[in-house]
Amino acid sequence: MLIRNGGIEGKIVSSEITPRQKFFSRRDVLTGATALGVGALVLKQVPGLIHPGAVHADEKLATVPSKYTVPDAQTPFSKATTYNNFYEFGTDKGDPAKYAHTLHTRPWTVEVTGLVKQKKTADIDSIMKYRPIESRVYRHRCVEAWSMVIPWDGYSLSEFIAWAEPLPSAKYVQFLSDDKSSDMPDKPGGFDWPYSEGLRMDEAMNPLCLLTFGCYGEALPNQNGAPIRVVSPWKYGFKNAKSIVKINFTDKQPHTLWNDANPPFYGFYSNVNPNVDNGGPQSHERRIDSSAFPKTIPTQMFNGYGDQVASLYAGMDLRKYY
Ligand code: MTE
Repeated sequence: MLIRNGGIEGKIVSSEITPRQKFFSRRDVLTGATALGVGALVLKQVPGLIHPGAVHADEKLATVPSKYTVPDAQTPFSKATTYNNFYEFGTDKGDPAKYAHTLHTRPWTVEVTGLVKQKKTADIDSIMKYRPIESRVYRHRCVEAWSMVIPWDGYSLSEFIAWAEPLPSAKYVQFLSDDKSSDMPDKPGGFDWPYSEGLRMDEAMNPLCLLTFGCYGEALPNQNGAPIRVVSPWKYGFKNAKSIVKINFTDKQPHTLWNDANPPFYGFYSNVNPNVDNGGPQSHERRIDSSAFPKTIPTQMFNGYGDQVASLYAGMDLRKYY
C-alpha cells in the first residue's frame, strides 16, 4: 500500500492529526530504499523518540477515539502493569514489572518475512506513525480465568499487513517475540524460545486485531510488551505476542510456543469459549478491576465479540479447533 500508494494517505488531512501521528511517507520509503539499494527497506528513525529501555516509558501517545470500544469498567493502570504474563522475565505474575527493565526498546525494528512481495524491515517509530493511533478499550481474557479491561493504543493490524504486501499464497501470519539473552538473561528453560504465536490471515485482517504500541495513552510499559505487540480481544491472552521483532507470512499453520508446550491445553485458535475447558475451566472469569475483591462473572463466547468475529468460524467445530 505504501509503495503502491492507493490513496489512503490522502484520506486524512494534516490538520486532523497530531504531530506524532504522521504517516510513513512515500519519501521515507524511497529514502530507505535508495540508501540501502535493493533488499531490505529500513525506514528512517525519528530522532528524539529514542529512549532507553525502561519498565514504564512514560511517553504519552496522541490517540484518537475508536468505535471498537467496550463500556465495561476499566482495570486500573496499576493492576494492568503489575500482574502480567511475560515468561521471558519470569513466571510469577509480579516478575515482568520487576525485571523487564532490562529490555531495550530502542532502537527496535520489525522484520517482515516469508510469503511477501519483498522482505522489509521497518523501524518502530515509523510503524507508530503510519496510521493514527486509536485508543480502544478491550476486554482482555487470560486462559487462567482472570480478565481485565484495558484501553490499548494502536491501529488495526490489517493496515500493517496491507503495507507488508503478503502474497496470495500466505494463509497465516506468525509473530515472533524478541529473544535476546542480553535483554532477557533469566529466560526459563523448557520452552522453545522465541515466543511464537500465529493467526489465520482472515483473523489477522479482522479490524479488531490491534497492532498495539501503548495502553492508557502511554507507550507500552516493558512488562506489557513494549514497544509493539498484538491484541486480538476475542482470543485468550496468550495469542497476543509481546515485544515483536518479526512478522512472518506462511502457507502452513505456524508452530506456537504454548501449543508446542502443551497441545491439549493450548490450541492454535484459542478463541475465548466458555463451553470448552482447555487450559482449565473457562465458564467464568475473575474480573480484575478497581475493587478490592474482584467479582467472578460468566465468560462470554468470543469474549463478547461474537458479532464481529463469529463468522470467521462458521461451520467449524470449535471443540475440535479450540
Ligand atoms: N508474549 C511473550 N513474548 N511472552 C509471554 O510470556 N504471555 C502471554 C501474552 N504474550 C506472553 C506474551 C500471555 S499468557 C498473556 S495472558 C498476555 O501476554 C498477558 O498480557 P499482559 O501482561 O499485558 O496482560
